[in-house]
Amino acid sequence: MSGTAGQVIRCKAAVAWEAGKPLVIEEVEVAPPQAMEVRLKILFTSLCHTDVYFWEAKGQTPLFPRIFGHEAGGIVESVGEGVTDLKPGDHVLPVFTGECKDCRHCKSEESNMCDLLRINTDRGVMLNDNKSRFSINGKPIYHFVGTSTFSEYTVVHVGCVAKINPAAPLDKVCVLSCGISTGLGATLNVAKPWKGSSVAIFGLGAVGLAAAEGARIAGAARIIGVDLNPKRFNEAKKFGVTEFVNPKDHDKPVQEVIAEMTGGGVDRSVECTGNVNAMISAFECVHDGWGVAVLVGVPNKDDSFKTHPMNLLNERTLKGTFFGNYKPRSDLPSVVEKYMNKELELEKFITHEVPFAEINKAFEYMLQGDGLRCIIRMDP
Ligand SMILES: NC(=O)c1ccc[n+]([C@@H]2O[C@H](COP(=O)([O-])OP(=O)(O)OC[C@H]3O[C@@H](n4cnc5c(N)ncnc54)[C@H](O)[C@@H]3O)[C@@H](O)[C@H]2O)c1
Ligand SMILES: [Zn+2]
Ligand SMILES: [Zn+2]
Repeated sequence: MSGTAGQVIRCKAAVAWEAGKPLVIEEVEVAPPQAMEVRLKILFTSLCHTDVYFWEAKGQTPLFPRIFGHEAGGIVESVGEGVTDLKPGDHVLPVFTGECKDCRHCKSEESNMCDLLRINTDRGVMLNDNKSRFSINGKPIYHFVGTSTFSEYTVVHVGCVAKINPAAPLDKVCVLSCGISTGLGATLNVAKPWKGSSVAIFGLGAVGLAAAEGARIAGAARIIGVDLNPKRFNEAKKFGVTEFVNPKDHDKPVQEVIAEMTGGGVDRSVECTGNVNAMISAFECVHDGWGVAVLVGVPNKDDSFKTHPMNLLNERTLKGTFFGNYKPRSDLPSVVEKYMNKELELEKFITHEVPFAEINKAFEYMLQGDGLRCIIRMDP
């Protein structure tokens, strides 16, 4: 056990006091982990759109003060009662959704939607006692999606922690905690293109480009990138995207444009926009007889998906995925190995890096649509 085990740790954390206001680096107290919890020392974290979305709190019930952050790499500092498969010193990736290994979902080979630890964006406390492990002068600071990685130390349920190869550089593999694994898994685990096949990717943000990376790894011959923003096309070339379609450049629906380009439709499509019209196009652009479309983007609250049922009867398949169908504890270590054996490239996703003290810059980059991932380095 480390010298700090069982004690409150005082450390720096970036606290969001109010919606949309810059984070403030504060000294916080982090309580020791309780049963089935672990306390992590975070070394690197990165910013994902979901953090920004809940920080802006435009669509949801605001919960503040809160410590955001859910893409990160760290080291186990101490473990709570009942934790047997992690020990201090283990290198880990915390994940916003968990795997209890005990519920019907965890026992199913097909699901990663754990009953106990499925993402809950409204909960700001730990499951064990419905309390926060973070405080300032005795006042609680809320957690975010069970990870709160914008802190030098954080407490996480053991089911939300993937133990990884200690040789893996945490400043690179930390991006596998969320968006990159989501896009990659959507292609490799769900769309499953084959060598020589054609794949359309809707939305060329970090998630879509990770889906393109999956298509490249699978050996797809044609990877067609679809985006409304032409600035995205340049970056996408690095990810093996072979052709680009901007729906704005055409009078007819983009699904018809793609059908013409491919002799009837693509073999697979992956939607990573969150726009319901793009979801419909992504479905209708796959070839009849065998085409499969996979939805990844999170739609607006009141959206509904409308297509003619004949499109399904003509043997097209529509699927959706959460976190690329990866089970965090069982599957993420092997995704890290894909990077270690140079099958998967992560460097090209990392476009910025800032020290922890300048975490608000990472928010600015994302709000300006500048780059893909910004690594936040906790050590000065
Ligand atoms: N299912 C999951 O588990 C999961 C996990 C993480 C993120 N997501 C979702 O994935 C989506 C993509 O995330 P991101 O971080 O890459 O976002 P992003 O904003 O960086 O990228 C989205 C891209 O889609 C493009 N776009 C928007 N509307 C379009 C349209 N109608 N046609 C073509 N292109 C369009 C935008 O120009 C942008 O380049 C988001 O909706 C996010 O919430 C889902
Ligand atoms: Zn479970
Ligand atoms: Zn995320």
